[in-house]
Amino acid sequence: MMKIFGERFGLLHDVDFECYPEEHCKKAPELLKEIDASEELIHAVCSHGYGICTNVEPIHQMEKILFATDELTGLIWAAAKMRPSKSTKDMELSSLKKKFKDKKFAAGCSRDVIKKGAEQLGWELDELLHKTLDAMKEIEDEVEIKMIEIN
Ligand SMILES: [Fe+2]
Repeated sequence: MMKIFGERFGLLHDVDFECYPEEHCKKAPELLKEIDASEELIHAVCSHGYGICTNVEPIHQMEKILFATDELTGLIWAAAKMRPSKSTKDMELSSLKKKFKDKKFAAGCSRDVIKKGAEQLGWELDELLHKTLDAMKEIEDEVEIKMIEIN
């Protein structure tokens, strides 16, 4: 059940971004109410923009993980695309840490937000990087198949 929720939530959290980029995380409640989404789900969606575009604070563990990994997964995927394999599967944590420290690399992925996310989880930054990289390695094939199905 949690996995299904997580998969759908992974697609849902940016529900307002494409059509309303200037109102990101602010338009989401209105859109989600149209599909009778629960207040819990709306809170979870909006909290990923905490301190950036909303003041809705991540409370639940899943919300904190989304906040912490939203920018980080972008950075990891950008790093993966630079590799000969174009994959996360052969990426070492040390390589990711170098990319994280290189502020010019994937500059749009806020290191401050990622660090804040680790803090909110009570995790060391390395733990967040390690767990996120491992999770991406584990689901990379599945995501690729789903992306092909969508397009
Ligand atoms: Fe977002």
